Amino acid sequence: MLESLSLSRMCQLFERPEEALRLGLTIDTRRWSDMSAYFHGSPATGIDQVIYQICNWPSSPGMSDLLITVTLLYPGAINGEFFHTKGHFHDNPDGPELVVGYGGEGYLQLATREGTVTEVRVTEGEQVFVPPGYGHRAVNRSDSPIYYLSVSTADVGHDYDSVTRVGWRC
Ligand SMILES: [Fe+2]
Repeated sequence: MLESLSLSRMCQLFERPEEALRLGLTIDTRRWSDMSAYFHGSPATGIDQVIYQICNWPSSPGMSDLLITVTLLYPGAINGEFFHTKGHFHDNPDGPELVVGYGGEGYLQLATREGTVTEVRVTEGEQVFVPPGYGHRAVNRSDSPIYYLSVSTADVGHDYDSVTRVGWRC
């Protein structure tokens, strides 16, 4: 069982996937082709760009009830729409989440199911509480990558479909 790992090292694992594997962490990659439903336009270049990556703390069935991830959201835009994560609501309406900025300057957008969106700037060390029932996604309007830690309960569940109906703005 992995007991401790510095945030800086966890961020470095995006460039060292073999080391992540050895430690039991997994890295998910979201490309444009995984996210076309979440953007309004298409990339002019035709290149299947990497939008963001997620480094997942190893789960320990029966031992852990937390979902711990670090997200690396790259800079960029598609037809003027800045790179952002898919966003999601939690299946569990009582499931909150803590987001902590680690590097760069990004924004966390919070949405009600009625479509009201608010936005919080997230810089290094900034902690943002995502209240239960709120959809949430991150946006990178800078020209540098941003990193942030997310912690929620492991059984919170992710609803990626409802979030496409929110009137997000970039
Ligand atoms: Fe979440």
